[in-house]
Amino acid sequence: MALTIEEMAVFCKKKGFVFPNSEIYGGMAGFFDYGPLGVELKNNLKQAWWNYHVKRRDDIVGIDGAIIASPKVWVASGHVGGFSDILVECKKCHARERADVLIEDKLKISADGMKLDEIESLIAKNKIVCPKCKGEFAEPSKFNLMFQTYVGPKQSEENIAYLRPETAQLIFTNFKNILDTSRVKLPFGIAQVGKAFRNEIAPRNFLFRCREFEQMEIEYFVHPDKLKECSYVNEVMNCELLTYSAEMQEKNLEPKKYKVKELLDKKIVKLSWHAYWLATEYNFFINLGVNPEHIRIRQHKKSELAHYASDCWDLEYKFPFGWKELQGIADRSDFDLQQHIKHSGKDLSWFDEEGKKKVVPFVIAEPSLGVDRSFLLFMFESYHDDKERGNIVLKLPNPLTPYYCAVFPLVKNKEEVAKLAEKVYKELKGCYTCMYDESGSVGRRYARADEIGVKYCVTIDFDSLDDKAVTIRDRDTTKQIRVPITELKSKLYELFLK
Ligand code: GLY
Repeated sequence: MALTIEEMAVFCKKKGFVFPNSEIYGGMAGFFDYGPLGVELKNNLKQAWWNYHVKRRDDIVGIDGAIIASPKVWVASGHVGGFSDILVECKKCHARERADVLIEDKLKISADGMKLDEIESLIAKNKIVCPKCKGEFAEPSKFNLMFQTYVGPKQSEENIAYLRPETAQLIFTNFKNILDTSRVKLPFGIAQVGKAFRNEIAPRNFLFRCREFEQMEIEYFVHPDKLKECSYVNEVMNCELLTYSAEMQEKNLEPKKYKVKELLDKKIVKLSWHAYWLATEYNFFINLGVNPEHIRIRQHKKSELAHYASDCWDLEYKFPFGWKELQGIADRSDFDLQQHIKHSGKDLSWFDEEGKKKVVPFVIAEPSLGVDRSFLLFMFESYHDDKERGNIVLKLPNPLTPYYCAVFPLVKNKEEVAKLAEKVYKELKGCYTCMYDESGSVGRRYARADEIGVKYCVTIDFDSLDDKAVTIRDRDTTKQIRVPITELKSKLYELFLK
């Protein structure tokens, strides 16, 4: 993983994974467009997430909420009042910087969640000046991250609306609709995948911090009297997680590996539901082949907690620019449902048949994962510069790769070989993501396929006309096997499952 984030952005553009937005007009910072290969990988990633979290389980249902909601939603959720970053503006050139990022860059300390007065005194004490013109900064101020728009034909105050800064609120506002229409019983979760928007002061690191991005979120609701009774925790007790608690950070200790059982026994993670979701989310990545040494869990320090969170652990990935948040897994308690009960005046409780009482469920874990950040993770994990082959090999996992296989007719201009290759291609395309390539030498074709992550190249040669067999070449080992055409589909299926 020696590649820098800038080099990755260049690779993604060159191969048609991701393009800078509005490039022909000079670009638009914080926005990116996914290209022909990127959209396939991204869709596969979202599908894999949905299969793992919704399809294979009985306790999670999905929704797809709108991007714009009543502004009252965002007042109730606390985003209108409290969803802001601290901004500093240069008195001379008027450049605006995100204060915590500026402090982190200059002083090499973590400034996430730092208060306004602390930031002001650190800037003054360390004489931090504008990185662009060396001018002095004005007093720091809060900057709300929500994008505003107007709904309807009148651009007036009463028509202001916001693009959603998280998908989560649509889950809370539809909570009653879901109770009334699905046969859900506590504990249960509601999942959603969709776009969210934040007017970041300093978008940076390619897809890592964008202004438009996509989230895969679950709100998992638990009975308030049963917060300590996680029905599934035994499934993950032996799962080992590289752990960095708030206490370890404060005492300057190194992260350490703990089994879930130890995390709970030592009360490093307080609630078994929280531990269960940390391990479940970790396993999502490990099952897709991610190196366990590249993922850790890190607890938010008190100062970092979002306005709705009573505890939060991030799943972090070792990006080339440091360990960074991939996914937040926050304990939101009953904050959101209570806020919406208060602001809407509606009953958002659940009737507990056993206890014969109404309860407002708690969200002990909100696994909230960035699609674009996960996309970036898989690009870094998969990227191998193979010096022997002389090309890049993108070792994407089978469920994610844009093309699982490719078909190459090996003898140029030989009609019969090409005809057979086309026949094989059409058959495979009915079952697998498959591409056809007949141009250039076979070496060039293998290299092109390696660079975009094609797992198996199927070559059809002269002999195929006689022995009715083809060669399958493995992207990762370059090993080849000969397989009868009649068994090709089932062989590729067998290999897919490996
Ligand atoms: N819903 C949590 C987040 O957007 O960070």
